[in-house]
Amino acid sequence: MPTGYDQVRPLRWENDALLMLDQRLLPGEERWLELRDADGVADAIRAMAVRGAPAIGIAAAYGAVLAAREAGGDWAHLSSALDRLGAARPTAVNLEWALQHMRALAERTAAGEWFRAMLAEAHALHEADVEANRRMGELGGTLIEGGAVLTHCNTGSLATGGYGTALGVIRSAWGEGRITKVYADETRPWLQGARLTAWELVRDGIPVTLLCEGAAASLLAGGEVGWVVVGADRIAANGDVANKIGTYGLAVLARHHGVRFMVVAPTSTVDMRTASGADIPIEVRAEDEVLHFNGKPVAADGARGWNPVFDVTPAGLIDAIVTEAGIVEQPDLAGMSQLFGAR
Ligand code: MRU
Repeated sequence: MPTGYDQVRPLRWENDALLMLDQRLLPGEERWLELRDADGVADAIRAMAVRGAPAIGIAAAYGAVLAAREAGGDWAHLSSALDRLGAARPTAVNLEWALQHMRALAERTAAGEWFRAMLAEAHALHEADVEANRRMGELGGTLIEGGAVLTHCNTGSLATGGYGTALGVIRSAWGEGRITKVYADETRPWLQGARLTAWELVRDGIPVTLLCEGAAASLLAGGEVGWVVVGADRIAANGDVANKIGTYGLAVLARHHGVRFMVVAPTSTVDMRTASGADIPIEVRAEDEVLHFNGKPVAADGARGWNPVFDVTPAGLIDAIVTEAGIVEQPDLAGMSQLFGAR
């Protein structure tokens, strides 16, 4: 059960269905979706009802359980449902990682046992993610020695099985008195920082101050922030990191102003088969997400929008990658290979 500084679980399995907190409606409304088929889970991932790399992976694992029930022992049916889940969003490697686990399990399990075995596996992946987050919180927290932190997007309980990655480090360091103040970027265009990170921290009683991304340069120039702490959707073998659009800009700013830059992600986000950030597929979403807000147009009629939702931060701008398996400082291929094995 969630404890202090950790009060939310965005995914639950109940009565043979996946219950998902609809993150599109937060903070205004807490509505739970009840998903009973795999394609419904794929749609919910694509539509951002659940988001955040580890949470997407866990949702897909439960989606695979639903696919196993629908397949009734038919391998082709199961396999195509897993393919559709895997295609829901391209950048977060956790999706592919979770589905590979589920596919491999189905391959070595008698068809009559798929549902039971895959449900146990989905629960295990979910619990392991929360444990990994706790561990990363402890490890990453030790790097912070006072001062304020700036985070981007939402990397908390909502983005994971629970507790969070970068937000887990912030929770842990806050609990130990190592942080004086938490700043969060609002994170255009989906406002994950304003809507979700602020919602989580306010519930935890951790004071949070929001800023428009454009204010980050002035904040970092001011000297109050010691660390920028962010999550990741995919970490390549050379230590390049794909994360929410705007992360790269923050890393450039941090280096320019002598502020340290920490990436926090579970090993399920590390993709040693992808050589560098140039090989990471970057999701580009509909231009309407930029041109509209809450269904209302915010741009001049006739303007076009560009909406890449992730960017790649080169390893050279990162001071530490924190995983549950350990920390890679000043990441490069050698450091990554030492901790995660050769490609
Ligand atoms: O588009 P989103 O909201 O799924 O993007 C989320 C992020 O970029 C997070 O920083 C990342 O997934 C890590 S979440 C622990």
